[in-house]
Amino acid sequence: MRELRLGLVGCGAIAQWHARALKNLSRTRVTACIDVSPERAAHLASLTEGTVCSTIDEALKIGVDALAILVPHHLHEEVVSKALSAGVHVALEKPMAPSVEACEKILAVAAQYADRVFMLTENAQYWPEVLIAQELIRNGAIGNIITARSWHNFGITPEFYPSADSWRFQAAQAGGGVAIDTGSHWMRPLRMILGEIDEVVAVTARIQEKMQGESLVRALCKFQSGVVASFDVMLATGAVALQPHFQFTGTDGEIVISALGEVRLFDGTDWQGTIVGNGNYMDSYIGVWKDFEAAVLDGTPLAADARYSLGEVRAALAITRSSESQRWEKVW
Ligand SMILES: NC(=O)c1ccc[n+]([C@@H]2O[C@H](COP(=O)([O-])OP(=O)(O)OC[C@H]3O[C@@H](n4cnc5c(N)ncnc54)[C@H](O)[C@@H]3O)[C@@H](O)[C@H]2O)c1
Repeated sequence: MRELRLGLVGCGAIAQWHARALKNLSRTRVTACIDVSPERAAHLASLTEGTVCSTIDEALKIGVDALAILVPHHLHEEVVSKALSAGVHVALEKPMAPSVEACEKILAVAAQYADRVFMLTENAQYWPEVLIAQELIRNGAIGNIITARSWHNFGITPEFYPSADSWRFQAAQAGGGVAIDTGSHWMRPLRMILGEIDEVVAVTARIQEKMQGESLVRALCKFQSGVVASFDVMLATGAVALQPHFQFTGTDGEIVISALGEVRLFDGTDWQGTIVGNGNYMDSYIGVWKDFEAAVLDGTPLAADARYSLGEVRAALAITRSSESQRWEKVW
């Protein structure tokens, strides 16, 4: 196979971001835009070369080698199982599913098609600033990690929260609040750099009335290494200030990733730090598709296997448990 024919299942908000990223790939072509809403499928088709479809079966007839599953969380298990069972390669948006049981069922179906690529699309795995920091830390730029913090504050946008009854506001559909949803993009870099999380303690709050799940998380994550990092996520009710996304503190210095993508190293050479790189979060989506394309067409291993993403689902569920028990909760 020299070209990857991709069908996008779910033509909502994130599908448009993926469609933009996919324009940077030379060997992947969107051939089908599949949505239960004909208007959404038609809109995405206008942004790609895809044919409008209302079901996966229609897309299979047109010709797809792979399907990207971009539907609300409570539908992941059903839709991804259908896609995997069709024998095509599959990329599934995060979180794998709202419960560990549903994730394990999905992984069991994927295991039956082990010769196909199954990727869990966590774009933070390819976040350029994070990769710069990860490399520096791996090379000892700040010594041994002592602690870290991550912070993400964001507002309600019509793109992702189009109406008061949006699925993201419904706990049963989203599987919770910001911890299991947007929080995963800040949890993944912590795990990439600090390793696996052992336990969490968290306070959560519902600062968005219409959101059934938590819209504010203030958590401490204790990693298996013993390092403790803070993890804060807020779906704010008003305007938000720019805060560093990440700060990693080591025995010899610190690395800060700003909200604008600047990576600054504090190693004692300059008290203002040294800018060692700049990145753009949006490029992480290009990284997703380059990795998927290479895995399907060249047989290269994915940067992270799908099972690895259970770490974010489990951490989010442990945060919910801890906010109720008011104790440290084991992640695994
Ligand atoms: N990586 C990221 O940065 C990021 C950002 C936002 C969303 N997401 C993830 O993407 C997924 C979708 O989120 P969204 O914000 O695009 O949601 P959305 O509501 O904007 O879009 C979902 C689309 O799926 C369609 N749909 C529902 N059931 C379907 C079915 N059975 N077959 C085909 N289409 C169906 C809906 O009609 C809708 O158009 C979620 O898993 C979410 O967590 C990831």
